[in-house]
Amino acid sequence: MGFFDDKQDWLAEVFAQYPEDRRRSALMPLLRRVQQEEGYVSFERMKEIAEIVGTTATEVAGVMSFYSYYQGLPTGKYHIQVCRTLSCKLAGSDELWKTLVERLGILPGEVSEDGRFSLQAVECLGSCHTGPVIQINDEHYIERVTKERLQALLDGLSEDKPLEEVRRTLPGEEETGKHVIELVKGGES
Ligand code: FES
Repeated sequence: MGFFDDKQDWLAEVFAQYPEDRRRSALMPLLRRVQQEEGYVSFERMKEIAEIVGTTATEVAGVMSFYSYYQGLPTGKYHIQVCRTLSCKLAGSDELWKTLVERLGILPGEVSEDGRFSLQAVECLGSCHTGPVIQINDEHYIERVTKERLQALLDGLSEDKPLEEVRRTLPGEEETGKHVIELVKGGES
């Protein structure tokens, strides 16, 4: 059964937002729906989306490749994205990456044996002044990550503590939070 077989009403709503001859423009909402519900977009789904919007699976894959949000392979419960652009690199992201690969025993595209973790190197996460920065899943940013903070983060997540609680109780989180607030205030003046 196709992913969209029982979502015909939803598809009709999406397509109603685009001109008749612009079905390909609906590619993004369809991709987003699959990513949100299945955690990644398999080749089967790419083909299904391509057929629905009237394009090729290659084009769907091409669009996906522009966005680190879309995954072509299954990810772990905690998908850890490490910013490896210059500011974060200078602040130590290479070391963090090495620590993650060693401790989790995985490379990008793999999932740890317990199903908890997957890894991805990403471009600038937009918080260069608080690097190195990592992002967990779609919304949780961890800033000024040191080896100590990273190990504490992995410890907490390995025990399945809630992500927000783990983030809040990381070593040095209070100072990091204050620093970010000061930076924001400085930017406002
Ligand atoms: S360089 Fe890492 S957040 Fe910008």
